Amino acid sequence: MSMVALFAAEGLEAQALRRLLSLKEALDGPWIIHQGTLGRYPVVLVETGVGKVAASAAVAYTKVRFNPAQAFWVGVAGALNPELKTMDLILAQDAVQYDVDITAFGRAPGELATGERFIPADAGLTSKVLRTAQSLGLPIRLGRIASADRFLAHRSEAEEVRRIFAADAVEMEGAAALWTARRLGLPMALLRAITDQAGSEAPIAFETFLESASERLAQLIGQVLSS
Ligand code: ADE
Repeated sequence: MSMVALFAAEGLEAQALRRLLSLKEALDGPWIIHQGTLGRYPVVLVETGVGKVAASAAVAYTKVRFNPAQAFWVGVAGALNPELKTMDLILAQDAVQYDVDITAFGRAPGELATGERFIPADAGLTSKVLRTAQSLGLPIRLGRIASADRFLAHRSEAEEVRRIFAADAVEMEGAAALWTARRLGLPMALLRAITDQAGSEAPIAFETFLESASERLAQLIGQVLSS
């Protein structure tokens, strides 16, 4: 069976997934990488570090080193869409780097020099995650994720990001990870659990719900790889 790559920015976001893996080893190298099996698949679980640069570099490194056939990014996010509640799941249809700004040259906010703006997740993997979540009765929404090198903890700015990009949730890696995966021909789905509403409560809510979010993510990804 071909290799699956799982990515999470922080070890705590992946703690429950790590417990699920029948672990063979934690590999040395520039990132913490756990190798094992999950369901029917050989798996590498990569802790990338926080932010778009770390995410992008880790995806590229993993693709070149392990040549996985499919990838899932998991982690937590702040809600922009008021319908998203704490512990709901948001699954990216696409994602945008909302801090990219070359509007001085007449480009749209978040548009890259290449002309790309909303980077699509892999459609096949995304619908598999969606179907599996629905069969488990988990609250999940398909939507748009906005990423930047910034922990967003201001409600008025969160509303602005929602207004400009029609995004449902905010985090710090997904759009860069999807962009890199696409460039390298690695199909990737992007799945997040909501910990906060990106307002002043966000830092405390983030810490409060991190562990239960990680368990929900592991439950779903475990089932996706077992079915
Ligand atoms: N991850 C979880 N909550 C977040 C927020 N409010 N901003 C950025 N990344 C997040």
